[in-house]
Amino acid sequence: MVKADAYGHGAARCALALQDEADGFAVACLEEALALREAGIHKPVLLLEGFFDADELALIVRHGLWTVVHAPWQLEALERTPLPAPLDVWLKLDSGMHRVGFDAIAYRDAWQRLRALPHVGRIVKMSHFARADELDCARTDEQLANFAAAAGGLPGEVSVCNSPALLGWPRARGQWARPGLMLYGISPFAGAHDVAAQLRPVMTLESKVIAVRELPAGEPVGYGARFVTGAPTRIGVVAMGYADGYPQFAVNGTPVAIDGRPGRLTGRVSMDMLTIDLTDHPQAGVGSAVELWGNQVPAAQVVAHSQTSAYRLICGVKRVPLQYVD
Ligand SMILES: Cc1ncc(COP(=O)(O)O)c(C=O)c1O
Repeated sequence: MVKADAYGHGAARCALALQDEADGFAVACLEEALALREAGIHKPVLLLEGFFDADELALIVRHGLWTVVHAPWQLEALERTPLPAPLDVWLKLDSGMHRVGFDAIAYRDAWQRLRALPHVGRIVKMSHFARADELDCARTDEQLANFAAAAGGLPGEVSVCNSPALLGWPRARGQWARPGLMLYGISPFAGAHDVAAQLRPVMTLESKVIAVRELPAGEPVGYGARFVTGAPTRIGVVAMGYADGYPQFAVNGTPVAIDGRPGRLTGRVSMDMLTIDLTDHPQAGVGSAVELWGNQVPAAQVVAHSQTSAYRLICGVKRVPLQYVD
C-alpha cells in the first residue's frame, strides 16, 4: 500500500525501494497511480476504489493499471466501454464492513458479468475487514465466513488481508496481501503482539531546539498557559508544530528524545513550534536534536498521548523536508 504518498513516506521513493520485493502496489486514485508510472514503476498498480468516472478507463488501460470494481455503476461502465487491451479487475465483496463492495447476493452475478466481458482479464476476489486489529473480536471470522459463502467456488486469487489481518488472522491469508501500516514498521495493534513487536519504524520525525528559556517558578508557557512552571524550569523551543503534522492536542508529558535521551513535551503545541522541558537536560541547548517519533520514541506512545492514530500521525507529516537513508 503506497496510497496517501506511502502513508506520508513519499510514494515514488518507497515504491522504487520496494519494487524488487513487492508484486505490485496499491493506491487510492488515478493521480497517485500515474505518479508512480512517471517515477518509473513498472510493477502492477491497483486502484483501490477503482475508477471514479468511466472516462478514466482509457488511461487505466493505457498505463496497464488494475482496477477494483466495487459498485454496480462501475460494472455497467465496464460493460458499456470497449477497451483496447484486457483489464485486470479486483472484484470487491462487502463482507460486513459496509463501506464499499457488492453485497453477497449481487457478488456472484457481478463476477459472471465481468467474466463474460472479452476485455476483462484476471478477476481477483477481494474484501476488507473492519475490525481485524481486535484480536478477540468475532467480527473478522464472521466476515471471513461471509466471504467464503459469497465468493467460494468462483475461480481466481483471493485478497482480504490488511496489516492486522496479515499478522493476527493467518487463516485469512489468500494469494495477495495488502499490508499498509506494517510496511512502514508500525504495529496495527493497540496491545502487545509478538510479531508486530519486531517491526521497526521506517520514519523518524526530527527537528532541533531553536531557543531556550530559563524560567522561574510560576511562569506560564505557550498558548493558553496550559503549562505553568512549578519550579525553576529550562524550556526548549523546537521547530515543529501542528502545521508540520505534529498532533496539536498532544498533552504535557508526551515523550520526545532530546539528543538521544528521553524527554517530554510541555505546553500547548503551536502551528510552527512546540516546547519541551530541558530542566533535566543540562547538556542540551540550541541545536540539540529532538526526535518526535521514530526508533527512540515509538509512534504508539505519541498516539497514546494525543487523541490520534498512528495512521493519521504518519500520513499527516507535511512541510518537513524528507531525507532518505539507504
Ligand atoms: C482496501 C484496503 N486494503 C488495505 C489497506 C491497508 O491497511 P493497513 O494500513 O491497515 O495495512 C487499506 C487501508 O486503508 C485499504 O483501504
